[in-house]
Amino acid sequence: MGLEKHISTFLIVLLSLNSICTVNSMDHADDRDLVEDHDHHYSQQEYGTYGFEAYPSYFRPFEGIKNLDNSARTMIFRRLAASIKTINVLSFGAKGDGSTDDTKAFENAWEEACSSSENVTFIVPQSRSYLLKPLRFSGPCNSNIIKMEIGGTLIASDDRSDYKKDKRHWLRFDSVENLVVEGGGTIDGNGNVWWQNSCKINKNKPCKDAPTALTFYKCTDLVVKNLKIQNAQQIHVSFERCKSVEASKLVVNSPENSPNTDGIHITATQDIHVSTCTIATGDDCISIVSGSKKVRASDITCGPGHGISIGSLGSGNSEAHVSDVVVNRAKLSGTTNGVRIKTWQGGSGSANNIGFKNIEMENVKNPIIIDQNYCDQDEPCQDQSSAVQVKNVVYENIQGTSASTVAIDLECSKSYPCQGIVLENVNLEAANGGNSEAVCKNVDVQNSGNVSPVCPN
Ligand SMILES: *[C@@H]1O[C@H](CO)[C@@H](O)[C@H](O)[C@H]1NC(C)=O
Repeated sequence: MGLEKHISTFLIVLLSLNSICTVNSMDHADDRDLVEDHDHHYSQQEYGTYGFEAYPSYFRPFEGIKNLDNSARTMIFRRLAASIKTINVLSFGAKGDGSTDDTKAFENAWEEACSSSENVTFIVPQSRSYLLKPLRFSGPCNSNIIKMEIGGTLIASDDRSDYKKDKRHWLRFDSVENLVVEGGGTIDGNGNVWWQNSCKINKNKPCKDAPTALTFYKCTDLVVKNLKIQNAQQIHVSFERCKSVEASKLVVNSPENSPNTDGIHITATQDIHVSTCTIATGDDCISIVSGSKKVRASDITCGPGHGISIGSLGSGNSEAHVSDVVVNRAKLSGTTNGVRIKTWQGGSGSANNIGFKNIEMENVKNPIIIDQNYCDQDEPCQDQSSAVQVKNVVYENIQGTSASTVAIDLECSKSYPCQGIVLENVNLEAANGGNSEAVCKNVDVQNSGNVSPVCPN
């Protein structure tokens, strides 16, 4: 790569001069990200690799020549010695004109990135739009760290025949470790054609799955941040079988009437923190399903949409386990549900150790809801004796308004009543000014502090 040549030239200059430059890259706009990267130990970027588009030469970030002591010199040397390979999709033939198929260019760029033994920055330059068919970024990779900087817009092909081979995914990262995906760009599923053909919109159409826009499958030590994901064909972002994930500063945006367009879906994933996300969509803002544990969601803004859900769990008599979930600081406006746990009859397993706290509801139809008779199918669901056990759920400091009279709706299983349900400082008023109510079936609620409405005796 030309980059390496530049770097070694720079090193020679660096080592042979007494008076040299100060690293000045902290001056540019990515300041904040650099500091944050530090927390995630991805700080090798400090000489500004991903700013190259903006700089006429690699030397520009080192402007501001001052005397440098030895330790600073060593520091620079160390940074440059840990070399980073820059891979730009434009160098692989991507056009970014919004109409040329750029799939092959991305595939080739990824192959190069993934096979490199260096750390890699994969650049998708801004102010362009890249038309992409289904695309798989497969690992495991040789590189230590791959940082994908998406500055521009990735737009999905809306020719459904392009999805013949894999109908469930558009962009999919598979088995990649130490991956960072960020960059301020947009991922657009171009979902309109899928929505129109959904059985939920057009009853004459058969019910078929549509692709998830962005899937992370079996990724470990993953950071996804500062991206906009919109108009997904179905789910916007899905974490499946991942471990150790930071997802932050994501904006999800799709119309309220787009079918099954969950914002962030978490399945069989452990140790995930979703923070500072704004989600407006046609289905759940966040859905957390079987096999997930140690899930934290904080500073979430949701609406329109179906709220923050654990489940559905136990469909088709399956065994499901979700535990250690904390939703802290969320604001839901105009959603059909606020915080929901939904399970099908006939399932088994448990939803356990769950906390919903510091949540503001504004005109939410079912602010607090446990639905153990969930049934999202054409035929009515039969009564069944087995159920997913719901246990140890704390609702703490939840305030605001309910669009329906029933602000608290706890419909637990007859055969497996909910256990350890605590309401602490929960105050939900009816949005129309009337009295709100609590419906509580097969559950003994423990109230603490100020709780309104309360379960009838
Ligand atoms: C990749 O980056 C990590 C973290 O900054 C660093 O420890 C490692 O040495 C780098 N690897 C290479 C091959 O440069």
